[in-house]
Amino acid sequence: MAWVNENYATLQDSYLFSQVAHKVAEYSAAHPEKKIIRLGIGDVTLPLAPVVVEAMQRAVAEMGVKETFRGYGPEQGYDFLHEALVKYYAEFGVELESSEIFISDGAKSDCGNITDIFDDANVILVPDPVYPVYLDTNIMRGRKIVFMEGTPENGFLPMPDPAVKADIIYLCSPNNPTGAAYTKAQLKEWVAYARQNDAVILYDAAYEAFIEDGELPRSIFQIEGAKECAIELCSLSKTAGFTGTRCGYTVVPLALKRKTKNGKEMSLNKMWLRRQTTKFNGVPYIVQRGAEAVFTPEGQKQCRENLSYYKENARLIGEALEEKGILYYGGKNSPYIWMQCPNHMKSWEFFDYLLENLGIVGTPGSGFGSRGEGWFRLTAFASREATEEAVARIRKFL
Ligand code: MLT
Repeated sequence: MAWVNENYATLQDSYLFSQVAHKVAEYSAAHPEKKIIRLGIGDVTLPLAPVVVEAMQRAVAEMGVKETFRGYGPEQGYDFLHEALVKYYAEFGVELESSEIFISDGAKSDCGNITDIFDDANVILVPDPVYPVYLDTNIMRGRKIVFMEGTPENGFLPMPDPAVKADIIYLCSPNNPTGAAYTKAQLKEWVAYARQNDAVILYDAAYEAFIEDGELPRSIFQIEGAKECAIELCSLSKTAGFTGTRCGYTVVPLALKRKTKNGKEMSLNKMWLRRQTTKFNGVPYIVQRGAEAVFTPEGQKQCRENLSYYKENARLIGEALEEKGILYYGGKNSPYIWMQCPNHMKSWEFFDYLLENLGIVGTPGSGFGSRGEGWFRLTAFASREATEEAVARIRKFL
């Protein structure tokens, strides 16, 4: 008899974005004449930057020549990409060693996989609302999860509560779904809490490139002491349009050590290396060459142009909501607009209303946690044309 993982029985039936996609597919099949504007899942629409494409084309050519062909690469990524990232981090004052950086196929995978190196007895502290992957991957392990509430009162940026004892803390800044971003002073408090409790912060920085306020931290490692208590997960999905190309990176500092239940001190960097070399064969060489190009000056310039395009979309959506007197967060240092559902509608109710009456797809806030009820997320990743059309419909019909 093969027993299956019972924890799966306690998960919601489907992953949030699959549920939304399913609902939209059903609606489109029933109303093929309706032009639907998708501001739901945060998927990019602009093509890869030209320098990225050129780098990947060169890499493809290398793969077709005996002398430059490559088979298995290092599971943790090629040195050339580590070096590019070391320089990138140095730009915002963070010094890293190559061996602290692990290249992966994206932050979502690493977010789930990192659960492997922690004991299931850990208490997990998760913000509510939050990117559902943190929650679901820990439910899959049957771990105890406690929530910290994001509310308009705290600007959707929950702070440590000394009365709550947690071992693993998930933070996402700029936040998915609310777009709120922690200041350095706030992260300092989190680092102090983690150090005091021997906890580990899993810091999701997937949206760091959207930060325009120079005072806001781009990495948790800008905070003193964070290397002894934090792991950072990052992605090229939104920064450089890699949602389909797949490449991300996780930084596990050499200074990060914790004990097993039996008191043996372990290096989390070594554990993650062991995990990755055993269960992962690395990101394709061609993709890593593309990723390397993102961090060249020309790559940064081209990617930043795309980010500005999305930010302008966010601004347009925000402007229309403001005109309508609708409260919203985010949209400034983030590609997400977190709006309050009008007329006290519930999140899924507003989802149906928006789809049926305005032909716009968004993501119901309640899908990100119970504190998201009554809220709704729109993304700035659509084309300008689609965003302008959505904004016109909001102005006219909402
Ligand atoms: C989102 O819409 O929240 C993201 O695209 C999901 C992801 O990055 O996996």
